[in-house]
Amino acid sequence: MPRRSVITGTGSALPPGVVTNQDLAGRLDTSDEWIVERTGIHQRRIAAPEVKTSDLAVEAAEKAMAAAGVTAADIDLIVVATATPDDTFPATATRVQAKLGVRRGAAFDIAAVCSGFVYALTVADALLKSGGHSRALVIGAELFSRILDWEDRTTAVLFGDGAGAVVLEARDAGDRGILAARLHADGRHADLLYVDGGPGSTGTVGKLRMKGREVFRHAVANLSSVVGEVLEDAGLAPADVDWLVPHQANARILEATARKLNLPIERVVMTVGSHANTSAASVPLALDAAVTDGRIQVGDICLLEAMGGGFTWGAVLLRF
Ligand code: UT7
Repeated sequence: MPRRSVITGTGSALPPGVVTNQDLAGRLDTSDEWIVERTGIHQRRIAAPEVKTSDLAVEAAEKAMAAAGVTAADIDLIVVATATPDDTFPATATRVQAKLGVRRGAAFDIAAVCSGFVYALTVADALLKSGGHSRALVIGAELFSRILDWEDRTTAVLFGDGAGAVVLEARDAGDRGILAARLHADGRHADLLYVDGGPGSTGTVGKLRMKGREVFRHAVANLSSVVGEVLEDAGLAPADVDWLVPHQANARILEATARKLNLPIERVVMTVGSHANTSAASVPLALDAAVTDGRIQVGDICLLEAMGGGFTWGAVLLRF
């Protein structure tokens, strides 16, 4: 019997510290008007200095496990998507595994920056379908506040901290589950969005650098195209999509993607206003927000998509 991977629980972790646009306008040459008009962002959450990426990941994972009605003993795969791991090694996923009390299976990180969760979900889906694992925690967790240049107004206003998680379970093929997934990368654009140092191999501490306007242009084109691919793979039309759950980089990118799909904006889950861009955490945070407030119901067709540094991009189409 072919298997399919079903999301059975979602969870979020957002640090309590809120930083508003006005707060940033007090220390940078920017304004609430500019940030809202160009990005749709009103505020972001920033973690206290002692908080680690694995702490946020564990909090989100525990909530997802509670929602799915499973315990640590039921998990045999942990995939953490992050560009801000606790340490160069070991993988943050192994820290998460230890803190959760999971004692079997595999645990590893995926580095695909803002596309990380879509990459992680796709990889976990493949491992579950292969039969080697049965129940995964797929987590996007980031502390982008630690890699921002707080003097650079072109990037400092855009990002926030947070984590989102799902429990992904292998089931004998039924209606629900992941229907199609596609991943892409084009490393020729690596220098448009990168961190100028940081890993152990360089011995330096890096900060995020981005040519925003060029990234924007590629994002709209790449996302529209990959969304078309997964719909075609699943034999569905844009009109079949109940919810677009996009990476939350910029409200204008979300609106442009929805327009290209001819999807009413009410069908787009938008959290960028209150979370800003949380990189790999943004898709699972948005998913959890819409599941928790009752918008996304079992049986709904959800289209998840993201694009980020690398460039990397991808989409996952699923029946929730
Ligand atoms: O998550 C991974 C993928 N990332 C993305 O998808 C991000 C994609 N890019 C974007 O979202 C947008 O390009 C930004 C929000 C980053 C920038 O918006 P934009 O409309 O493309 O603005 P811009 O970069 O073309 O800058 C317009 C002007 C510039 O001034 P001049 O050269 O026209 O005088 C900037 O210096 O706005 C200026 N500017 C600011 N002004 C006030 C840039 N940042 C700020 C700021 N406050 N924070």
